[in-house]
Amino acid sequence: MQLNINGQLHTLDVSPDMPLLWALRDHAGLTGTKFGCGKGLCGACTVHLDGNPIRSCSTPVSAAQGKRVVTIEGLAVDASHPVQRAWKDNNVPQCGYCQSGQIMSAAALLASNAAPSDGDIDAAMSGNICRCGTYPRIRAAIKQAAGELKGDKS
Ligand code: FES
Ligand code: FES
Repeated sequence: MQLNINGQLHTLDVSPDMPLLWALRDHAGLTGTKFGCGKGLCGACTVHLDGNPIRSCSTPVSAAQGKRVVTIEGLAVDASHPVQRAWKDNNVPQCGYCQSGQIMSAAALLASNAAPSDGDIDAAMSGNICRCGTYPRIRAAIKQAAGELKGDKS
């Protein structure tokens, strides 16, 4: 099966009903995307499919065929995406396990809404669970990145 991952075509020998997360981690070697619950409940496995945040643990790899998959490794080659920089500035990660999923959800939110309200942020991030409770820093980082993106556009 051929998949466009982070702008590159990968030919993977996988069954069409394999979860996309397995294909990414075990077959494409992209281990930045994490396995948490495996049931679509925690958001650790979030990647973008044609720009939309999806749970790769509960999306069959067949659903990604002919679409653009972007993982944390592909967000920016040098980790210079505004969300990644804001994460660093705000020292968001604690154990770090949930953070690639958090960043992918935040990046998708800001791509569709460069000036999200608190409610927009809560709604977009509600499916991403952090067992370390980094939520206040996540919100601060999203606001910083939003401010930067807004500045870029004005
Ligand atoms: S591992 Fe996919 S949502 Fe938890
Ligand atoms: S930083 Fe530890 S789970 Fe979120």
